[in-house]
Amino acid sequence: MTAVVERRETVPSPYLEGPFAPIDTEITAECDVVGELPADLSGVYIRNGSNPKYPPPGRYHWFDGDGMVHALHFENGRAVYRNRYIATEALAAEMDAGEAMWSGVNERPNFSHPGGPFKDTANTDLVFHRGRLLALWWLGGPCYEIDVPSLETVGRFDFGGTLASLTAHPKLDVKTDELMVFDYNVVPPYLTYGVVGPDATLVHQTEVDLPGPRLLHDLAITEHHTILMDFPLMWDPELLAQGRTKVSFRSDLPARFGVIGRHDAGDRVRWFEAEPCYMYHTINAWEAGNEIVLVGCRIDNPLRDGDRDRIPHIDVLRLEPFLHEWRFNLVTGTVRERPLDDVMTEFPRMDNRLLGRPSRYAYSPRIAAAPELLFDGFLKYDTNTGESETHAYGEGRFGGETVFAPRVGASVADDDGYVLTFVTDAETGDSEVVVVDARRVTGEPVCRVRIPQRVPIGYHSWWIDESELI
Ligand SMILES: [Fe+2]
Repeated sequence: MTAVVERRETVPSPYLEGPFAPIDTEITAECDVVGELPADLSGVYIRNGSNPKYPPPGRYHWFDGDGMVHALHFENGRAVYRNRYIATEALAAEMDAGEAMWSGVNERPNFSHPGGPFKDTANTDLVFHRGRLLALWWLGGPCYEIDVPSLETVGRFDFGGTLASLTAHPKLDVKTDELMVFDYNVVPPYLTYGVVGPDATLVHQTEVDLPGPRLLHDLAITEHHTILMDFPLMWDPELLAQGRTKVSFRSDLPARFGVIGRHDAGDRVRWFEAEPCYMYHTINAWEAGNEIVLVGCRIDNPLRDGDRDRIPHIDVLRLEPFLHEWRFNLVTGTVRERPLDDVMTEFPRMDNRLLGRPSRYAYSPRIAAAPELLFDGFLKYDTNTGESETHAYGEGRFGGETVFAPRVGASVADDDGYVLTFVTDAETGDSEVVVVDARRVTGEPVCRVRIPQRVPIGYHSWWIDESELI
């Protein structure tokens, strides 16, 4: 593949500096621990993120960087850290060339690029399904299998030849071992929904009608249904026809939530209209009588301008999300919605064992008042009431998405375990994993695991119990 990107100097970006700056080392190291590792914490905490290997040509967007996974393996009283690039085919081509071969989403895409207009980095999300860790990309494409605990990239994984492209945020039902997946595109079909069965092949796939192309990010599941989303955020269709990608938000259009039976055809989706909004991440959904309850982090308008010192932005995208609940009545077709809190929070996680079933607690990073997306602590939410307790990381220290790790031998209670996240000191660059007792989040961490290099701020994560490792 020849380099088909114009050589340009990198335009400075705050997402290439400080706690976001990429690193170029890959290490394996046993870590020092401050405090005592809990004996009932056994498994692997893994986090994905954006880490450009080569200087990005032109304007960089935080979502552009190559995927890099960081993991901490808690085993037999030791904590071993590893980090590795995700060895995508695009990264291999760039390493052959010795330079970047794609520009990012802030530049005019080259639709005649032989490797596609955008570089599939697999940098966004992680899911562990049937003993296989998969790394996924926000824009949709092939996913990559990552070996655990070595973090070496096994290669593209296409579900036995049945599914070549999917986006980040498939949802795992641990009771059935099904994985609900989706994909979106700028040309029809704009949305495709599917179910991967326990044998890791696609067992159901259907197209879902949307009024036009959308920039989607997540879905939600209940025991019997999947909730698809149609938010009015898109690349401006007229400019897209001219080969340009400019994000547009139609605040005159409703937010639509499509409820579909898990294995139903796309023409059976039932749409519920709610106040216009955008949402990157749901927390959970479940069935409650005639209603389906959905909780997530709602953004009123992702392109509204102003307050750039206090409200974080990723270029034009404004991150001002708040915990919110929607209730969709399957009998009357009505929607009830309500804000649950007024603290800015995103990248929420909960106990994976309860995904799609009634849950109580979520662990959701608290957004710092800063121009960039930084999290200065996390909230333990009771998502039924919006009540919360806060764990703060301390001055100048910033974390990311948390994972919930059930205690070995834990009950099904969704706070019987530990909350973990990488935390980095923006001044010194020192990084650690804090291990917080989920039932005592306002207190000091149970322990802090010192990471022997800086871990850049990243995206999504997963917890794999030692018992799940083959
Ligand atoms: Fe995400």
